Amino acid sequence: MSAVTQIPMVERVSELRAALDAARRDGGSVGLVPTMGYLHEGHQSLVTRSASENDLTVVSIFVNPLQFAEGEDYGTYPRDLDRDREMCAAAGAGLIFAPPTEEMYPQTPVTAVTVKGLNALLEGRFRPTHFDGVTTVVAKLFALFGPGRAYFGEKDYQQLAIIRRMTADLSFPVEVVGCPTFREPDGLAMSSRNVYLEPDERPAATVLWRSLQAGREAVVQGSRDPDEVEAVMAAVLAAEPKASPDYATVVDAATLDRPDVLDGELRLLVAAHLGRARLIDNVGVDCDRL
Ligand code: PAJ
Repeated sequence: MSAVTQIPMVERVSELRAALDAARRDGGSVGLVPTMGYLHEGHQSLVTRSASENDLTVVSIFVNPLQFAEGEDYGTYPRDLDRDREMCAAAGAGLIFAPPTEEMYPQTPVTAVTVKGLNALLEGRFRPTHFDGVTTVVAKLFALFGPGRAYFGEKDYQQLAIIRRMTADLSFPVEVVGCPTFREPDGLAMSSRNVYLEPDERPAATVLWRSLQAGREAVVQGSRDPDEVEAVMAAVLAAEPKASPDYATVVDAATLDRPDVLDGELRLLVAAHLGRARLIDNVGVDCDRL
């Protein structure tokens, strides 16, 4: 006998609405965890948090074509729905929404949600259309689910900031909850894309975390010059021949602007290619609490 718990999974919007209406009839609260699947413990930590704060937690699993550019990994993005279903159940979810593409986009959308400015910084310089795809699908998910709360990881720090801004600007009645980054024991941030790392690249992938720690340590030691902190981060990345960095930077944690002098709450962010994988990571440091 299998001890695996199963939870319902629906593919159609009509089924989703019926299940959510039933849950809300008795005043139940709904927590949404949007994902693209191939789940890991980082995703599970969001589900666990939602399950502790809501009567029903729903996980959406949808590899959103709008947020991939030509030449990116849309076609090869890893998928394992059976395993995802078990992981959602184990973490306390009550329902999965895993729509086929034509259910989410029955016609090619000509409407998009754009968070101007924030969408062009950092990741936006390397993936100029990415965040418009993210905000458009998250706005759709908010409309489809009507969740009281929605859970996002700090792992994708810029995405979280953009979704917070979209939610405020469009008055979505959703509380956006940011959750800490879940890491492997050696510091590598968990990511569905870590599966792209070859065995010999896997140890080298800790370079992102090492770079962030070195940058944070420079701030802790008193550096208030962004150039200096970024040079420390870049040097760690440069010492790893398998990594080719896109950026290593320090920004204001709230605005994502790069200050002239470091002050208040900061976020250090890095992005680098390792073989087939493009990885991102970030960490916070608060100058007022050192
Ligand atoms: P995906 O990469 O599947 O991530 C789903 C959620 O899990 C995101 O909020 C992400 O920040 C969070 N997450 C990923 N790795 C994490 C980790 N190691 N620790 C904590 N949280 C982690 O992000 C997306 O999907 C998509 O852009 C989506 C928001 C679903 C829109 O399509």
